Amino acid sequence: MAVAVGCPLNAHAQDANSIRGMAATCANCHGTEGRSAGTVPGLAGVDKTQIVQQMQDFKTGKRASTIMQQLARGFTDAQIEQIAAWFSAQKK
Ligand code: HEC
Repeated sequence: MAVAVGCPLNAHAQDANSIRGMAATCANCHGTEGRSAGTVPGLAGVDKTQIVQQMQDFKTGKRASTIMQQLARGFTDAQIEQIAAWFSAQKK
């Protein structure tokens, strides 16, 4: 289970697509590329470690939430790292 540790170039393009796909599932609520227009907090340009931390807190139930707890459980730690890195790289 060595997922994307070395991130060889040929695997990268494929990864980027699947990360984009995962991130797209967040867009309904958090806005396109994480730029929220509503009351849900935006994710674009947020520090990666902060996103990871929040997702882990939702996952473990440490942070109470309406919906995120359910959603966070659907992702592995590695996927959360990837999604967080993607959103933090987006422009606010
Ligand atoms: C159905 C709507 C919905 C979807 C889909 C959704 N979120 Fe959320 N998210 C919320 C809401 C609402 C909150 C505020 C906490 C709560 O009540 O759950 C939140 C909070 C968060 C927070 C904490 C932000 C902060 O500053 O406190 C993070 C991080 C987050 N979501 C990440 C994600 C990621 C990553 C995805 C996609 C995998 C995602 N969310 C998909 C609705 C959603």
